[in-house]
Amino acid sequence: MSYKVRFVDFPEHYRRMKSEIDAAIQGVLDGGDYIMRRQLREFEKNLAGFLGVKYAIGVANGTDAILLSMKAAGIGRDDEVITVAHTFAATVTTIVHCNATPVLVDIGQDYNMDVGNVEAAITKKTKAIIPVHLNGRVCDMDRLMRIASKHDIPIIEDAAQALGASFKGKKAGSFGLSGCFSFYPAKILGALGDGGAVTTSDDAMAEKIFLLRDHYMNRDTGEFLGYGFNSRLDNLHAAVLDVKLKRLPQWIERRRELADLYQKGLSGVSSIKLPPPSGNGDYFDVYQNYVIRSQQRDELVKHLRSSGVEIIVSWPKPLHKHEALGLTKFNLPVTEQISREVLSIPLYPEMSNDSVKLVVDAIRSFDKR
Ligand SMILES: Cc1ncc(COP(=O)(O)O)c(C=O)c1O
Repeated sequence: MSYKVRFVDFPEHYRRMKSEIDAAIQGVLDGGDYIMRRQLREFEKNLAGFLGVKYAIGVANGTDAILLSMKAAGIGRDDEVITVAHTFAATVTTIVHCNATPVLVDIGQDYNMDVGNVEAAITKKTKAIIPVHLNGRVCDMDRLMRIASKHDIPIIEDAAQALGASFKGKKAGSFGLSGCFSFYPAKILGALGDGGAVTTSDDAMAEKIFLLRDHYMNRDTGEFLGYGFNSRLDNLHAAVLDVKLKRLPQWIERRRELADLYQKGLSGVSSIKLPPPSGNGDYFDVYQNYVIRSQQRDELVKHLRSSGVEIIVSWPKPLHKHEALGLTKFNLPVTEQISREVLSIPLYPEMSNDSVKLVVDAIRSFDKR
């Protein structure tokens, strides 16, 4: 089906910066710089600077960013890791791939971990907490950092959806032992395929991630220092990401503008719930996704799609309800209710104000029925 308003518009995104992207790719090809070369180092330096951390380490994808963080933090068999079920599967599958046990806590009305549930979930086996900064909004990190430091448990931030978002002026990915980012093409900063990064200000953690992503090999001596991975961010991706990183602040500004337009256009529509407003005190949200809630979610999705608006539902079924994952013992009523009600409507920097109006009108026409 061809939509009047797409969920994202990759061709338009490329068209607007074609000459810069093409030049970056050409530079890589001309220099034969494919793996772990200058462009990667420059992107890592610029990303670390943007986030206010000491190190950014490019890896193959956001999933590996979490996996390598946990491996570097020494998480393994018999350990427990606290996280949420309202997230992309990667947050939880990586815990299992470390042979550790996921302990799932419920979320709050802003879709992020309800920090009030964390302390009760801590046991002697808890070795990490993974908050997920979902939809471009940071968790309540003040309270979470206090709990983590009281119990001496490291925090690994799943910041895959929150590049540039901040809480009390501090950016996602700069709070915990490490931050994990995804450059999947639809993310705020998207590569030409898969990509990711780990951020940290901890020297020992950085050194381990640098080694782990490249076979745990000392490149000077050829010595293997342990069992590692091949999880490097390709130079080609790094070169393109570095070009895009310069535009990130203006893209974030545009995302927040569009969120304001939705907020104004949809205020008073009684059948839906809107996300918290963007200028909301301690939170600086970047709207990776603009998520609304409706008790008639499935009908609304159908109506919007047939009105020409592309919609994504993330996620209709929380992770603990997928039988094959073996997590059905968890009882997470807020997560379950939110999974029944959420839908994401289009929001991306290239989107026009007219497209926002079309989406708003389509939602209002559903509300009036
Ligand atoms: C919250 C969250 N965590 C982790 C990931 C995994 O990132 P990737 O797809 O780059 O492996 C994603 C990406 O969709 C995500 O949204």
